[in-house]
Amino acid sequence: MTNQTAQLTVDGHTYELPIVESTAGEKAIDIRNLLHETGYITLDSGYMNTGSCESGITYLDGQNGILRYRGYDIADLAENCVFIEVAYLLLTGELPNEKELNKFREDMIRYALIHEDMIHFFDHFPPNASPMSILSTMVGSLHDFYPEMDLDEDPYGGITTATARLLSKIRTIAAFSYKKSIGHPLVYPRADLNYCSNFLNMMFERPNIPYTIEPLMTAALNKLLILHADHEQNCSTSTVRLVGSSGVKLYPSISAGVGALWGPLHGGANAAVIRMLETIYADEMNFDKYIQMAKDPNNPYRLTGFGHRVYKTYDPRAKIIKEVTHEILETMNIEDPLLDIAQELEYRVGKDDYFVSRNLYPNVDFYSGIVYRAMGIPTNMFTVMFALGRLPGWISHWQEMHMDKENNRIGRPRQIYQGVVKRPFVPMEERR
Ligand code: ACO
Repeated sequence: MTNQTAQLTVDGHTYELPIVESTAGEKAIDIRNLLHETGYITLDSGYMNTGSCESGITYLDGQNGILRYRGYDIADLAENCVFIEVAYLLLTGELPNEKELNKFREDMIRYALIHEDMIHFFDHFPPNASPMSILSTMVGSLHDFYPEMDLDEDPYGGITTATARLLSKIRTIAAFSYKKSIGHPLVYPRADLNYCSNFLNMMFERPNIPYTIEPLMTAALNKLLILHADHEQNCSTSTVRLVGSSGVKLYPSISAGVGALWGPLHGGANAAVIRMLETIYADEMNFDKYIQMAKDPNNPYRLTGFGHRVYKTYDPRAKIIKEVTHEILETMNIEDPLLDIAQELEYRVGKDDYFVSRNLYPNVDFYSGIVYRAMGIPTNMFTVMFALGRLPGWISHWQEMHMDKENNRIGRPRQIYQGVVKRPFVPMEERR
């Protein structure tokens, strides 16, 4: 809180509203007592201008394309860390030392299996079930298979048994759902493999056909997961906080976050980008047609992978993922026509005043799908990959919310009612 206040005059009365300042110098008008003092609420559909909490996890400056986890620039983290190191940072606030990281690695191995009874669940989804619906269901069901994970013994903050187990098991659930979807036998986690290699091995190893884990692929996966690990109060993280604010435990809260991530305007965009690029390819690369459709105010079509609520410049994650895309494709000698189409589209959009004037640049989802394709990951698993990456962020926010005892109350927005205010009841025989 600062000593400054903002003045608001309503119905001839002037009210003083406190001003809160962030550690990075951003200022906000604190309206928590506005209703009580004035009788007015604020209206902010889509939460375009509403701070829902105070948080110390991720700093984002959308004007300048800056993204930092716990103060560390994501470019440094992506270049120098492995994913679980960053997960540790998000969860605890500090990078682990060697001993702490080794212990965390052991946790990832110790907790990698899922209860064998859970495996029967996979058999009863329809063959074309979405991996996101499977993921959400399975994460929610952890609540019953591992009830001790949801006890109040140590749920708030840092690395707990519950958080370590969830981080490890989500990877097994994701890989098993893929194997089941293609009718292949499950590949169990191995104790000798690190987090990302283990995941790739569970996805791609087959009986009698050894799978070679390319270090470049493991490194790329680590980078992608790190770049997705948190993004402050985005739609799915806000969902996790909102659901968790009702007092429900970690697993149902995360399961709800998976649902929120699924949508094409959020994490589902990475798969939608690939479908868009494939459509343009199949349509003889008629870029203009799709650009014009996206610009037409009467057409809901959008160029997926462009634009962001908070970035008004190039998404810093997209910049790194674009580099990773080139590195992977060139080093592994992989030709993917979708990369050429993506680059041409980016080039054309970058010269078009409609997109430039609205600050519509590639976002995190624009290039990530091309890297996943190079890894052999099918399009319907892309958003699951996003969920694996985002999990440490979701957990950290859930924990942070619970630790903030002073402000931790149930999330419950208001509304401006615009319906019929009152009318007499109409009996059935009089209804037309
Ligand atoms: N293609 C064409 N026009 C666009 C696009 C796009 N991708 N994105 C925004 N616009 C236009 C809108 O039509 C609007 O134009 P107008 O001012 O003439 O009405 C203007 O830009 C502002 O767009 P809003 O929808 O008001 O911006 P908002 O912040 O609500 O939406 C969003 C952000 C959802 C990301 C939007 O840019 C979008 O739909 N992008 C495509 C989907 C996508 O890539 N989503 C992934 C985002 S990253 C993530 O969540 C992981």
